[in-house]
Amino acid sequence: MTPAARIQAAIEILDQIVAGEPAEKALTSWARGARYAGSKDRAAIRDHVFDVLRQKLSCAAIGGGMNGRALMIGCLRQAGLDLSTLFTGEGHAPAPLTDGEASIRADLTDAEQLDIPEWLVPLWRGSLGEGADRVAELQRSRAPVFLRVNLKRASVSEAITSLAADGIVAVPHPLSPSAVEVTENARRIKQSPAYLTGDVELQDAASQALVDVLPLPEAGTILDYCAGGGGKTLAMAAQTKAAIYAHDANPNRMKDLPDRAARAGIAARILKTSELKAQGPYDVVLCDAPCSGAGSWRRAPEGKWRLTPDVLDDVTRLQAQILDNAAPLVAEGGVLAYATCSVLSVENRAQVEAFLERHSGWTLEAERLFTPIEGGDGFFVAGFRKA
Ligand SMILES: C[S@@+](CC[C@H](N)C(=O)[O-])C[C@H]1O[C@@H](n2cnc3c(N)ncnc32)[C@H](O)[C@@H]1O
Repeated sequence: MTPAARIQAAIEILDQIVAGEPAEKALTSWARGARYAGSKDRAAIRDHVFDVLRQKLSCAAIGGGMNGRALMIGCLRQAGLDLSTLFTGEGHAPAPLTDGEASIRADLTDAEQLDIPEWLVPLWRGSLGEGADRVAELQRSRAPVFLRVNLKRASVSEAITSLAADGIVAVPHPLSPSAVEVTENARRIKQSPAYLTGDVELQDAASQALVDVLPLPEAGTILDYCAGGGGKTLAMAAQTKAAIYAHDANPNRMKDLPDRAARAGIAARILKTSELKAQGPYDVVLCDAPCSGAGSWRRAPEGKWRLTPDVLDDVTRLQAQILDNAAPLVAEGGVLAYATCSVLSVENRAQVEAFLERHSGWTLEAERLFTPIEGGDGFFVAGFRKA
């Protein structure tokens, strides 16, 4: 496919997404009907679609509308491309620009400049203060690819050498001693021996840094209460000899965890909700709670546009409930760690204050907000110690 034909394909897919189709579904349906498209075409089209989704409001403003063609025009214009060479109408290229499409709107609102929903702008700025606009700007571009080196298996330099044998270039990242950033050929990672043998895992650098600051005991017990796919379960298990237990309200989310743990040479036992109390109490309970995802919108940009005040209210209620349910599982003198991949204060600082108000006998030991300014996704972590 020519670059222009890829753009036309992205326009058609974006039309489906604007009509309400989830992006992954729209991309898959398109690929099914386009057997002529090779893997490089599919990857380029996907990049166009996600570039638009990260900057949907500004693309619509600069492109002149909320439809696939206008969004794509806005996106390419922001990237400084010469549209007249792409919108030619020749072959499978998009039709030439109309007079209306050729004019550019320059007076963007704050929400359009930040690419944040209008209602969220005050909360965003209130949460992030001076860094707010910079973080919003970073959420408008592609996320770096990070790997966690399984330090139980390999050193960072051994992992970098092994990846290099497959043409994958990776460099250490300052956020965590286990983190490397992949700078070339990231698409080869899942076929590389380093990945297949469990020496490296895909994991954001701030997600790794969050685990680094947890007060993990050398021995004893750790419960990952909201384990999901097990990213943090595995990262914790790589750092300690303590027994690790994984739990999730939706056990199906943990279905890949046994294979991932086996590949990494790590033992983690999955617990049902009914088994949690009998197996406890635990020295550390991590609640990596469901959240708005506001820290990782550059990876999952659709979440940015789906978030509403009601959704945010629901998720903050659930976070408080999860903390209340998990607190009794912590041993005396143990730690309840609360984490989100959000940068919004209502999900972070406000939850910490509310927990301390609801529960006496706990002290806040530490809290830390990571933002994309440090290179990784946005994450928050706080540790409460039980008296
Ligand atoms: C942010 S994700 C966890 C990601 C995971 N820790 C990782 O590092 O890959 C939040 C998880 O919390 C789970 N969850 C939702 N409500 C819950 C509840 N009431 N109790 C425990 N887990 C819950 C969700 O199913 C989801 O898998």
